[in-house]
Amino acid sequence: MATFTRIADDQTPSIIVHPEHEIAKINDNIYGGFTEHMGRCIYGGIYDPTSPLADENGFRKDVIEAMKDLNVPVVRYPGGNFVATYHWLDGVGPREKRPKRPELAWLGIEPNTFGTDEFMKWCEVVGTEPYLCLNFGTGTLDEALAWLEYCNSTQDTYYANLRRQNGHEEPYNVKYWALGNECWGPWQVAQLTKEDYAKKAYQWAKALKLLDPSITLILCGETGYSSWDYYVLKECVKWDVHGLSGDTTKSLIDMHSIHIYTADADHLPNATAPRAAERAIQMTTALIDLARIENGVPETVPRQTICFDEWNVWDPTRAPGEQGAEEKYTLSDALAVAVFLNGFIRQAKDVGMANIAQSVNVISPLMTSKEGVLKQTTWWPLLLFSKYMRGASVAVNVKSPEYEGRTNPKWVRGTIETPLLDVCAARGVDGWVGLAVTNVSEERDFEVRIEGVKEGEVKVYVVGGESVGVVNTEGEEKVGIVERTWDGKGLFTFGKHSFTLLRWKA
Ligand code: AHR
Repeated sequence: MATFTRIADDQTPSIIVHPEHEIAKINDNIYGGFTEHMGRCIYGGIYDPTSPLADENGFRKDVIEAMKDLNVPVVRYPGGNFVATYHWLDGVGPREKRPKRPELAWLGIEPNTFGTDEFMKWCEVVGTEPYLCLNFGTGTLDEALAWLEYCNSTQDTYYANLRRQNGHEEPYNVKYWALGNECWGPWQVAQLTKEDYAKKAYQWAKALKLLDPSITLILCGETGYSSWDYYVLKECVKWDVHGLSGDTTKSLIDMHSIHIYTADADHLPNATAPRAAERAIQMTTALIDLARIENGVPETVPRQTICFDEWNVWDPTRAPGEQGAEEKYTLSDALAVAVFLNGFIRQAKDVGMANIAQSVNVISPLMTSKEGVLKQTTWWPLLLFSKYMRGASVAVNVKSPEYEGRTNPKWVRGTIETPLLDVCAARGVDGWVGLAVTNVSEERDFEVRIEGVKEGEVKVYVVGGESVGVVNTEGEEKVGIVERTWDGKGLFTFGKHSFTLLRWKA
């Protein structure tokens, strides 16, 4: 377990790591990405055929390299809100025949020059797995079945043959499919009530699994702590006792999606806001268990996990979606991203996937320009986590002072602690232990007693900066990683407003 004990400001903080006490395996998919037809994410982000930086497919090579560096295991596509009016057939076949369409989520024009086959190719080049989201707005079940057939079928049937005709003999075997996106939101084209959604999702799930029982289906949740989440889980997390999916040992629904964006103009409410995401994971897990208990789902049916398929720092009033949502991230935001990731590791047992929203240009750590890519402040903790915090989440006990001021959302105060030192630990399959420590304090360096660290060479990676407000701009990347080593003896100082990763071989 990860425990936190609050201490007085004048006491010495401590961290005890237990590399042998495994909490749960960390699913690599928590380092997932998300590419939506929105702003400059697809066009001008991952796909820019007129750019000298593009490869023969029109894909930005620098973006591909960045995705490879991040080792992104899975990428969600094509939305987001965009998907609510997306007809996938518009985006396949000869480009000159593809229709341009009005786009109603972000009020643009969708040229459809990038579609399913281009996305699959991009995933192959990047070395990542596709995760597709179905149109629950203007889309039909027939269309969804046709897309699944196009992507996965090996049979001699119309849409599988259409894929072959488009030059793709082999199926793409897309495993992850989402049953809509944010269908509860008033901004959705064809917003649904929870009753209508649950009914529709269950029927679609049945049909989709009849066509391909091997897929993983993701139910559309809200934040994880709403009556929508409770209701749709209760209605849809059922034992497939009649074998509707062809398998009586499973459930039609495999995962439950939740989304949370956090932001605040003040540093401490901003950096501690992702504690809400961790509490949301705990609440969602309870609702999943409740649905299983109330519906009598036997323990032989694998427990549904959480698909946190949109998370990040985002204030839509300062970076509106219709204007491309190009957030400029500060060091404070980078610390918030680290707190999000700490939470995913601590709650590894219940998180089957998480996708930073988004991967390029739109509320993203990675920004393209004509000349190249800029790594925003938030890139650096994400990179360190993805590189080094895989394997298993391990127990850690933390004593530190706590932030006591205003939180955002307000309910964080009273439901979950807000430590100044936010910590998680992992043990990799290679035997290396990683200790991730976010010191959110704006004023205080903390000298910390660390137990469980091995004396000898400890690798130290620090993401920090002059002040919590610094941002990276082209030509001036003020926030990056500073590396050094430590001998593992005595107290270790975690500098104010910094993220530190310590690594040693167990
Ligand atoms: O990621 C940006 C948008 O945020 C997505 O399109 C939507 O699902 C969410 O509201």
